[in-house]
This record gives sequence, C-alpha cells and structure tokens, in this order.
Amino acid sequence: MDLFEYQARDLFEKHGVPVLAGAVATTADEAAAAAERIGGKVVVKAQVKVGGRGKAGGVKLAESVEDAREKAGAILGMDIKGHIVGKVMIAQAAPIDSEFYLAILLDRSNRTFLIMASVAGGMDIEAVAHETPEKLIKVPVNTIEGLSKAQALKIIQDAAFPADIEEKVAEVLVLLWGVFVAEDATLVEVNPLVKTTDGRVIALDGKVTLDDNADFRHPDHEALVDHSAANALEEEAKAKNLNYVKLDGEVGVIGNGAGLVMSTLDVVAYAGEKFGGVKPANFLDIGGGASAQVMADGLSIILSDKDVKSVFVNVFGGITSCDAVANGIVQALSMLGDKANKPIVVRLDGNNVIEGRRILTEAAHPLVEQLDTMDGAAARAAELAAK
Ligand SMILES: Nc1ncnc2c1ncn2[C@@H]1O[C@H](COP(=O)(O)OP(=O)(O)OP(=O)(O)O)[C@@H](O)[C@H]1O
Ligand SMILES: [Mg+2]
Repeated sequence: MDLFEYQARDLFEKHGVPVLAGAVATTADEAAAAAERIGGKVVVKAQVKVGGRGKAGGVKLAESVEDAREKAGAILGMDIKGHIVGKVMIAQAAPIDSEFYLAILLDRSNRTFLIMASVAGGMDIEAVAHETPEKLIKVPVNTIEGLSKAQALKIIQDAAFPADIEEKVAEVLVLLWGVFVAEDATLVEVNPLVKTTDGRVIALDGKVTLDDNADFRHPDHEALVDHSAANALEEEAKAKNLNYVKLDGEVGVIGNGAGLVMSTLDVVAYAGEKFGGVKPANFLDIGGGASAQVMADGLSIILSDKDVKSVFVNVFGGITSCDAVANGIVQALSMLGDKANKPIVVRLDGNNVIEGRRILTEAAHPLVEQLDTMDGAAARAAELAAK
C-alpha cells in the first residue's frame, strides 16, 4: 500500500524523523483553519499518490491564511495525471538552503535492501538518475545487521553531502531505516530532504510503501487504507462474481487460475522495474470456463480503473481451450465497443493454442497485440504502461 504524503509525514514524526508541522484538509475552509493554527507562511500540497505534483502545479506557497484558502481551493479538485485531488496538506514553509535525496527500498532483483542518496535532490531527481547516475549513490544494506550510524555516515560522505550537515543527515538516515524496519515498508523515500538557512535538516516530502504481507502484525495500518479509491471497483467485481483485487500499479492483469495470475503479478512487477517501476494494477482470475461474458466483465472492470494504462491477458488453455478464450476476447471487445480504449497484450498458450492465436490474428483488433511468451508479454505490457 502506498501512503499519502501526510500519512508518511505522520509516520516519520512517530519515529523521530525531523518534519515540519502539517495538517490535512479536504476543503478550503479547513485548509485556512490549518494555516491559521500552523501560523506564518505555509505550503499547500496536493495529496495524490503520484509523483511530480510540484511540476503539475499541486504544490504552492501561501503567504497568509487567506492565500492558503485560495490556493487550497484551486488545488482541491485538480486532476494530476488522472488523480483527482481530494485532500491537501498544509505544511509549515521551510526556509530552504539546499535540497537532497534519500531513499531506502526493497531491491527485488538483488534480493536485498538498498539505500540511495544524492545531493542533487528536489523535483528533478528522475532526470538526475537518468542523465547523471553517478550523482546517485546506491548501497545495499545487510538485512540482519541493519544500518549503523557509522555506515550511514560513510554513505552520506560518499554521496558528498556538505560536511557541516553530514552528521545530522546520517542520523536521519538511521531513523529512516528505523521506519523502514518497524513499519515493514518496501519503500521510504524523502525528496527533498532539506538543509534550512538556519542549518536544520528536515524531511519535506515523504513517500512510503508498506508491505501488505505484513499487515497481520500492524493492526494500525488498517487506518491508513484509502477507502475512497479502490473499493468501487472491487464492489462491482464482487457483484459480477469475479475474483478481483485492486492493487496500486498500472498494468491490468487477467489470467485463468489463481496460481497463474499470482505468477503473472510477479512477472509484471519484475518486468516493470525496467520501465520506471511499473506494477500490476490488479489480481483478476477469470477461472476455468472463461466465457465471452466473463472476459467482457473482467475487461470492463479493468478498463474502468483509471490507474490502468495497459492490460495483460495471460491465459494457459487447459479445460478451456485457447480458441474459446480467443473467441471470448474478440466478442468481449465488440461488446465493449468504445469502452475498450487501452492497449491489450495477449499471451495464449496450452490447449489448442495455434487456433486461438489464429483467431486473434484474424480479428486484427487495433488494441490487441499477441506475444508468445509470458516474459515477453509482461515486458511489452509494462512498456506500454510506461508510455
Ligand atoms: N514545506 C515546504 N516548505 C518550503 N518548500 C517546500 C515545502 N514542501 C515542498 N516545498 C518545495 O516544493 C518542491 C516540491 O515539493 P514536493 O517534493 O513535496 O513535491 P513533488 O516532488 O513535486 O512531489 P512528488 O515527490 O510527489 O514528485 C520541493 O522540492 C520544495 O522545493
Ligand atoms: Mg518530492
């Protein structure tokens, strides 16, 4: 589960990471009241689970309470990359001297945790990672031993942080490692971590992803779930008798059989690492007898998920043969008409695959692309989602 920035801020505060005062608001009036409580200049920040809010106009400095009301009014309801802003955070404004980057994440390909640090923090960190990767230091962490202050300091020095704050930044890094471990996170990112003009080191923006597999030992994480977003689709799927679970990625997944769908999620997540961390958007098992109606129901749910950018249909023909599935896909697409509006990558294999592929090739639907292997199809779906 990805957290909103204000939730990440609260978790940081709980674990002693230096943050500024911040409060969440859902109306302009609430925003003004929060600005009044916090006092002085504030920053009004769109709370959406997507990067690049600042560049999209979702982060604005407000000089006064009235200004905060006005800016919150403008930001609430804004569409940032398909996410409608329903909440803003009112944060105390920091006098920024310089901006840095720190992150701790699960590095699946190397089966370890990784610390990343850069002095080139701020809104252009993605460009830094692409164009001058040498400015982004990456160091694996030994899971058993954890992160000592001495190791943290070495990382910060290697990343060439200014000497006058290296001690403080190393302390923050150790505290962030504490958040990562204690909360069972798979990502804890601070961008920017700032040095203020009076020499303080503060986390100004936080991104945290919690590992849902560890929910059983964090009863308090239930309160962090955003019930407004996911559930409408899950309700609709339930009504149609589909085994559907909304996830937070961009590649819609349909498969037959829970085991195949589970491994499809893994393969998509793995392939997505090459495309900026694209992830599966859902679990959907259409089961053995995938009729055209079931395929149409499944596709229609997935296509109405605003986070979905591409769809991966991964079917292994067993009792249901591939030609039946292929016919199901063709009929489903004609039933959906204009509602089918995202690229669909299909991988068929197993019982009667040659006929199944022929049917899809012949139908030549402009949105449908066929690939022969699961890995190849996952990579293509991830690539399409990243575009
Ligand atoms: N509390 C604050 N006080 C002063 N400036 C701030 C504050 N919060 C953010 N800023 C400025 O706004 C910029 C963008 O803010 P922030 O990092 O929160 O959003 P973003 O990077 O655009 O969003 P995302 O991380 O989701 O891409 C920061 O780099 C910083 O310069
Ligand atoms: Mg940021």
